[in-house]
Amino acid sequence: MATLRLGVLVSGNGSNLQAILDAIARGELAAKVELVISNVASARALERARAAGVRALALPHKQFSSREAFDARVLAELRAAGVEWVVLAGFMRLLTPGFLAGYRHRIINIHPALLPSFPGTRSIEQALAYGVKVTGCSVHLVDEGAVDGGPIIDQRVVPIEADDTLDTLEPRIHAAEHALYVDVLRAIAEGRVEVQPGVASERTRVRLVRA
Ligand code: GRF
Repeated sequence: MATLRLGVLVSGNGSNLQAILDAIARGELAAKVELVISNVASARALERARAAGVRALALPHKQFSSREAFDARVLAELRAAGVEWVVLAGFMRLLTPGFLAGYRHRIINIHPALLPSFPGTRSIEQALAYGVKVTGCSVHLVDEGAVDGGPIIDQRVVPIEADDTLDTLEPRIHAAEHALYVDVLRAIAEGRVEVQPGVASERTRVRLVRA
């Protein structure tokens, strides 16, 4: 099986990046992280990449004249590195249509809620405040529609207990995210993820064949 060539975009801690790097190191994911790019120079994720021997690039977005200019540089770096799939792992920037067109149906994001519930930021807090009894995480394709609104690839459920707080729930969501992201990437690497473009006004859907 061919090795999946990944580029990971990050802004912060990078625990999802770490889960991916660890799975690759353990031989559990036939992938290679070719490049990690952060718009935040101090992101811990960059250190995690370098510690794993992965090229890590800081591109502070404020140094670019426009959103388009930033995205064009990121796209050029990913292409030059031979990246096939772009993995957003806590990347806190919206991507422009030009970038999305460059990797159409090959950009994935992870979100700490069961989409379409609680898109955007502070999703774990939102789920707790709303009082839902189950939440979880979602991996979806990134498209030009609403934030966190792209076709869902897969999800994991995390029950909310009566006495949960952010401090007790968040680690369980993150643990679920780490397992889910690696599983989805393995499914992509194994050719088990198929994009089914919607006809007319239908939504584009993703079919994932379980291993
Ligand atoms: C995760 O909760 C992810 O779902 C969200 O941002 C967070 C990133 O965490 N998009 P980390 O940087 O991977 O630790």
